[in-house]
Amino acid sequence: MPATPSPRFPLTRLRRTRATPWSRRLVRETTLTTDDLIWPVFVTGADRNEPVASLPGVERLTVENAVYAATEAAELGIPAIALFPQTPNDRRTARAEEALNPDNLVNTATRRIKAAVPNIGVITDVALDPYTDHGHDGLMDGERILNDETVEVLRAQALVQAEAGSDMVAPSDMMDGRVNAIREELDKNGHHGVQIMAYAAKYASCYYGPFRDAVGSGAKLSGDKRTYQMDPANTDEALREVALDIREGADSVIVKPGLPYLDIVRRVKERFAVPTYAYQVSGEYAMLVHAAQAGAFDLDAVMLETLMCFKRAGCDGIWTYFAPQAARLIDGV
Ligand code: PBG
Repeated sequence: MPATPSPRFPLTRLRRTRATPWSRRLVRETTLTTDDLIWPVFVTGADRNEPVASLPGVERLTVENAVYAATEAAELGIPAIALFPQTPNDRRTARAEEALNPDNLVNTATRRIKAAVPNIGVITDVALDPYTDHGHDGLMDGERILNDETVEVLRAQALVQAEAGSDMVAPSDMMDGRVNAIREELDKNGHHGVQIMAYAAKYASCYYGPFRDAVGSGAKLSGDKRTYQMDPANTDEALREVALDIREGADSVIVKPGLPYLDIVRRVKERFAVPTYAYQVSGEYAMLVHAAQAGAFDLDAVMLETLMCFKRAGCDGIWTYFAPQAARLIDGV
């Protein structure tokens, strides 16, 4: 005998809680706030801002304007900005000496920002690619990227950044053992309070193209970064990377790129329950801006949707070039 359908069929109507704005607000599981945003900013030694051709709407800022941007970010309530330099070509060398210059672009900008806007967090990138004439994140011997020799330079780079006032160093190089070395170097020199946010699961991705254009390393890059950045096919390996970085002293970790790698974010957050961030990288930003310009969707709407998706996947925050625009949209200013 077939079961008699209930006269009240369907008993469960999920559309009931979706029916009105107040109810949707009540059942919403995830929130996106300005507190979730980290704003990556490019700094140039040129005497005026320069547009980045492959990142529509993003400019490399003079040090002066980076200070102004930090002021604006603080007013918008963005917790932290991250600095990336476009090192002048004549200062790029095989051994990346400019990375250790206390007066290089990043260190100068850090000092100036911390003096002018003390209540915004300044994050500095620890990696050699903006400083090498070959565009790799490490020192080279022929075609080989040297691990331990590179770590010695990264250690010194992190210390110079901390001395300039960096609140948080973010190693993005993917050498083995660098978090441990950096923590040791910072502590040895009294910088116990400087945080380390490790790019723990950083993949060898083509989504970084526009960034390399912005820091001027792309055209110089010989070969690819697959001997140190992760294979996009792997997930268990990401967990091993994160486990190691936490054991070595990382305070928080980054998964990068962002949107195509949210499965990694989810696994990392569930397994380790540490502050976990994703980087919505340059290629993701460019993809959304170009698609919006072609009429595929509304940029503001897609921006907020993608940022919410990062939160839903388990991110505690997101590195995004959209940070100021998103903050304005979130707070309605
Ligand atoms: C390099 C670095 C890269 C990014 C941040 N730090 C590029 C790379 O690894 O080649 C990419 C960020 C982006 O694409 O927005 N150490």
